Amino acid sequence: MPATLKILICGGGIAGNALAFWLSKLGNDVTVVERWPSLRVSGQQLDLRGPGIEIMKRMGLEKAFRSKQVGETGIEFVDSSGRQRAFFPVNKTGKGLQSFTTDFEIMRGDLCRILYDATKDHVKYIFGMSVESFEQDDNSVEVQFSNGSKGRFDLLVGADGQGSRTRKMMLSPDGPDPFYSLHMYIAYFSIPRVDEEYIATSYLATNKRGIFTRRHDPHTVQAYLFYLGDSDKLENAVRSDVREQKKVWAELFQDAGWKAQRIIKAMQDDSVANDFFTHQVGQVRMDSWSRGRVVLVGDAAYCPSPATGMGTTSGLVGAYVLAGEIAKHLNRSNGVDNADGAAGLLASALEAYNSQLRPFVSQVQQLGPLWVPASCWGISIFNFLIGLAASLRLDILGRYVLRENIQWDTPEYAELPQLGSSE
Ligand SMILES: Cc1cc2nc3c(=O)[nH]c(=O)nc-3n(C[C@H](O)[C@H](O)[C@H](O)COP(=O)(O)OP(=O)(O)OC[C@H]3O[C@@H](n4cnc5c(N)ncnc54)[C@H](O)[C@@H]3O)c2cc1C
Ligand SMILES: *[C@@H]1O[C@H](CO)[C@@H](O)[C@H](O)[C@H]1NC(C)=O
Ligand SMILES: *[C@@H]1O[C@H](CO)[C@@H](O)[C@H](O)[C@H]1NC(C)=O
Ligand SMILES: *[C@@H]1O[C@H](CO)[C@@H](O)[C@H](O)[C@H]1NC(C)=O
Repeated sequence: MPATLKILICGGGIAGNALAFWLSKLGNDVTVVERWPSLRVSGQQLDLRGPGIEIMKRMGLEKAFRSKQVGETGIEFVDSSGRQRAFFPVNKTGKGLQSFTTDFEIMRGDLCRILYDATKDHVKYIFGMSVESFEQDDNSVEVQFSNGSKGRFDLLVGADGQGSRTRKMMLSPDGPDPFYSLHMYIAYFSIPRVDEEYIATSYLATNKRGIFTRRHDPHTVQAYLFYLGDSDKLENAVRSDVREQKKVWAELFQDAGWKAQRIIKAMQDDSVANDFFTHQVGQVRMDSWSRGRVVLVGDAAYCPSPATGMGTTSGLVGAYVLAGEIAKHLNRSNGVDNADGAAGLLASALEAYNSQLRPFVSQVQQLGPLWVPASCWGISIFNFLIGLAASLRLDILGRYVLRENIQWDTPEYAELPQLGSSE
């Protein structure tokens, strides 16, 4: 095996671009194929927490990140009359546990572009392309691309998100997909601003429904609809087209109260809510994230779900650990002059990726019982308790709801370039 590896990454989202960043800095020959015809910059607001903040800084990207930061002041909980029942401010120190609103909020497209811009001069990006199939032996993996051409690589990485095709091909294509539903559906889209400030607002309606708004620019509001249960109608709609999806959500929220009427009206106007996206919320849980020379990173491997607040952090952390373990194990290959020896080192790098990251992922994926009061009475108790917690300044969101409060030390890799300080 040559000192540098020829690596193919399938998926140019957050985790794929972050991995391409590190691997190209190490001098490897890296190609990213992205199915979308251009960089896929849609998506709403994301945040970084704990080790995700640390790793973004180690990538030397804090300045770029800060320049695109969303200035959300905190999260409030309102009742059906719009009255504020609780408020949790952002923790502006940027240190320790973040609240619901972190000091590191950003739109998904901006983060994706920052990672791409920092990478594109050293990585070959091919848009409108995907991996059709692959075959591997001990020494390489041969990939068949969607345009009919073929390529041979030392390593294939699936960074193709929650519904990863690479994962399905890596496991048996006919076998069960390790995606576990959290019995929750979500829809998100942009609507014109009326009176919203730079604050996240959460409203719990009856019958397991929730509405959530956030604002990131002068004219637009992000709207989120939640349904916390199983629904055949939503399940069928997720597999159907956008018009049908909007229709089902609109029916479901017709009598939800608060701003429901305005939000579903804007949602149904396709020229306004043209970024509408809906999916079932769930987690990907696997015993091992690699098979031979194929390995998964980010949501494809261990999607924790938006319910944890740790999806983007997990993507950045996973990319860092995978690159770090490859650097660490393959650096020693200087002295190895036969292919079998080098292949063994790559195998041990992937094994170390699995074992180093496992304690992080299993803590992130641990969910408390998501208690959702279904009745009006339950909701008024919920609003009372959350108001009490806010007035006592109990950071229940960072500590008990989101999965940020985990015990895991970010590994240090002397072999990775030192690009930014962690202070
Ligand atoms: C369009 C979009 C919008 C999103 N919006 C939000 C949001 O509002 N809030 C939130 O919390 N999370 C959102 N997410 C998910 C969030 O980005 C991830 O949870 C997290 O950042 C981890 O990123 P990832 O790179 O593992 O996955 P993703 O960000 O999902 O990236 C996967 C990438 O792989 C590409 N891809 C998929 N299949 C193939 C294929 N077969 N071949 C080649 N490329 C492929 C996708 O186009 C995408 O660019 C969104 C993801 C996408 C793709
Ligand atoms: C913010 O986080 C720091 C560091 O953990 C903590 O000391 C401080 O009390 C927090 N501030 C608020 C307002 O919660
Ligand atoms: C497929 O795409 C690659 C990358 O753009 C290109 O080099 C190759 O010639 C294409 N193959 C075919 C058969 O079109
Ligand atoms: C990589 O390996 C070389 C030779 O074995 C060694 O001298 C060097 O210190 C290693 N690099 C790092 C960063 O550990």
